[in-house]
Amino acid sequence: MSNVYLNGQFMPLEEARVPVMDRGFIFGDGVYEVIPVYAHQPLGLERHLARLDRTCAGVRIKNPYTLLEWRDLLSRLIANEPAKDQSLYIHITRGVAPRDHAFPANVSPTVFAMAKPMPPVPAAWLTQGVKAITHADFRWLKCDLKTTALLANILLRQLAVDAGATECLLLRDGFLTEGAASNTLVVVDGLLLAPPRNHLLLPGITYDLVLELATEKGVPFAERPVSEAELRRASEVMMTSSTREIVPITLLDHVAVGCGQPGPVFKHLLALYQELKPS
Ligand SMILES: Cc1ncc(COP(=O)(O)O)c(C=O)c1O
Repeated sequence: MSNVYLNGQFMPLEEARVPVMDRGFIFGDGVYEVIPVYAHQPLGLERHLARLDRTCAGVRIKNPYTLLEWRDLLSRLIANEPAKDQSLYIHITRGVAPRDHAFPANVSPTVFAMAKPMPPVPAAWLTQGVKAITHADFRWLKCDLKTTALLANILLRQLAVDAGATECLLLRDGFLTEGAASNTLVVVDGLLLAPPRNHLLLPGITYDLVLELATEKGVPFAERPVSEAELRRASEVMMTSSTREIVPITLLDHVAVGCGQPGPVFKHLLALYQELKPS
């Protein structure tokens, strides 16, 4: 099955190879995107490709393809993957060069992309919610860029796994930023609160879509800093991401969130989000 693309060619995953001197391998010098696909149609494709473009500009890698070229390449990957619901992964590195921190001259980026089946969110997550822990956000100050150098996120996510939790919510200087691999929304005093889009968190496409739905459907919300105290007294906490959509967090650091069950704002937003999905 040719569900992988590497530097101009479609091939099965087992055949995809990159040289060890690729700067993605040596330095984690690259960027990526993850795009959800429902019924063989991507959701939010333009937004994901626009974010890819912003990330490329932010790390000074030239986006190797135009919007049209990306569309064509990705639609071929989607068609080659039998599963209806998929996640598309795009990965671009600065290319292959002798090891030196400074940018190499005249190097072509390595471009890898693949489509793979996207399993549904476990039903119990939606009916009972999931556990999360909190931790100090020890990542860098360019968290708005979707870069492949994810070691800090990996360490934080593993802390959650070690604690038997699904996500690790991050606190910087007394304020909530996001999860190790998701954005976070909370409900405080009946108001949906979203930490502001700045350099401290990834501007999630799911977060954008959810807040746009909230605007359209008259769900009151504010995009503003959320203090740790607000997070701890929130009646609802939820995480958003392209592959997990919206998931309620009902236990935070061993303490029940609100009444310990998925709340009404989560249920409303999840129902609205389902309507966006191509079918
Ligand atoms: C750190 C981080 N924040 C937020 C998100 C959610 O972004 P999106 O909704 O675009 O998937 C992700 C997704 O992987 C992430 O890794």
